[in-house]
Amino acid sequence: MKKDFVSIKDLSKKEVKELFLLTEKLKQARPKHEKPLQNKTIALVFEKPSLRTRVTFETGIYELGGSPIYLSPQDIGLGKRESISDIARNLSLWVSGIVARVFAHQSVVELAEYASIPVINALSNLEHPCQALADLFTVYEKFKAFKGLKFAYIGDGNNVCRSLMLLAETCGLEMWVATPPGYEPDKKSQVTNHKSQVLNDPREAIKDADVIYTDVWASMGEETEKEKRLKIFKDFQVNKELLKYAKPECLIMHCLPAHRGEEITSEVLDSKNSIVLQQAENRLHTQKALLTILLSSP
Ligand code: CP
Ligand code: NVA
Repeated sequence: MKKDFVSIKDLSKKEVKELFLLTEKLKQARPKHEKPLQNKTIALVFEKPSLRTRVTFETGIYELGGSPIYLSPQDIGLGKRESISDIARNLSLWVSGIVARVFAHQSVVELAEYASIPVINALSNLEHPCQALADLFTVYEKFKAFKGLKFAYIGDGNNVCRSLMLLAETCGLEMWVATPPGYEPDKKSQVTNHKSQVLNDPREAIKDADVIYTDVWASMGEETEKEKRLKIFKDFQVNKELLKYAKPECLIMHCLPAHRGEEITSEVLDSKNSIVLQQAENRLHTQKALLTILLSSP
């Protein structure tokens, strides 16, 4: 595997398979599995808030025998107090890996370029690859295959959507995306799988879907656009009305945090078809597999 995990594009189909196999093993064996991160320290460099990503990485590192150090925006001022290249070169002297949550994707690319140790993207404006790994592992757990499934994403063509599209392509999963015009994921992230489509009609996208996924309409860093987006996205809310066009057994996914009453209603988020907590749980297991693969060599 490559030194870093900055984008879903860093993983081949074979590597995703291996990662999912190791995830299953670690999940079953927990907590009695090997501790490949013993005597290793991992820096968590976060420019944005987090519940799931921070807690699952910190917990995962502890469970694998290592020690995390959390560095908040006030601590190091990525690219402000000090250049990204200097931070990467200094951290490489003391720790074994960097997990970075950043605004600009270029920041995590630069960290990876200048660090001699593995760098993991824990969310950037362009991608959220760790989220996509946990999500498609959750789909795999539920259905035991990707072939023959229809996965529908409704809402903003954002970082989560892009990573899901790239991973869907790697895994051979048919993914339909519905966004308002102008909010589609960029062409480079769109799957080439002939069955997948990007459109502007949520009803068409969810027809016969096995899974419906949504995420917030204004991501971290886009707060000033929130009011404008609430109006533009209003027909893309995942609610009972929209679900009339879906299969009754269709599963509901969301990376969380959810803005209840905006992109999804509480009724749907808390329904029996919702698997959002399985997704959140699997963040821990898939990231432990990722850390093991990237960091267990001496
Ligand atoms: N899904 C996710 O990344 O959650 P946090 O922003 O809380 O880490
Ligand atoms: N798209 C969201 C995901 C949060 C986990 C954001 O970037 O804020």
